[in-house]
Amino acid sequence: MKDLVRMRTSLKEEIERILNEQIKMEAHSSAIYLSMAAWCDRNGFDFSAGYFYKQSNEERNHMLKLFNYVSDMGGHAISPEVTNVPQEFDGFRDVFELALQQEIAVSNSINRIVGQARQFNDFATDQFMQWFVKEQIEEEYVARRAVELFDVIGEEGVGRYMIDKAIPKITYGDVEAQ
Ligand SMILES: [Fe+2]
Ligand SMILES: [Fe+2]
Repeated sequence: MKDLVRMRTSLKEEIERILNEQIKMEAHSSAIYLSMAAWCDRNGFDFSAGYFYKQSNEERNHMLKLFNYVSDMGGHAISPEVTNVPQEFDGFRDVFELALQQEIAVSNSINRIVGQARQFNDFATDQFMQWFVKEQIEEEYVARRAVELFDVIGEEGVGRYMIDKAIPKITYGDVEAQ
């Protein structure tokens, strides 16, 4: 049966497997950002909460983009089970440190997929993944900039309030807007 199914797609089993892993990772990112949004809301950081709600939506869209690709290629896209979502964080800065680590992990994972796709001569997946390669430059930049704001502005006095207000204004390639 498996072989019969494989006859209908050029998508290699291994590539399908790692794409499904990435689907899961994006869903996990979406869930983490949602809990970060809730944490920010609970702790009075309303602007950052809005930022994380938006991030959470973006990650779901990333998941769907991959999901549709696997389906369109005749593969089996698996609706992921999302577990291990932290609901508590040590502090305002820690939330952003963790978000940056998450984005770095995603970039590394995307790069691994491109590497694998090239090994299998799967140029369709290689090309499809280039959107994610580019997207991660922006995602990492924004996450890194958010962490930097804690040092640049400082957390003392009204610092956290200023940081909170500055977070949603971070945009890649537009330093003026900050
Ligand atoms: Fe993503
Ligand atoms: Fe992301």
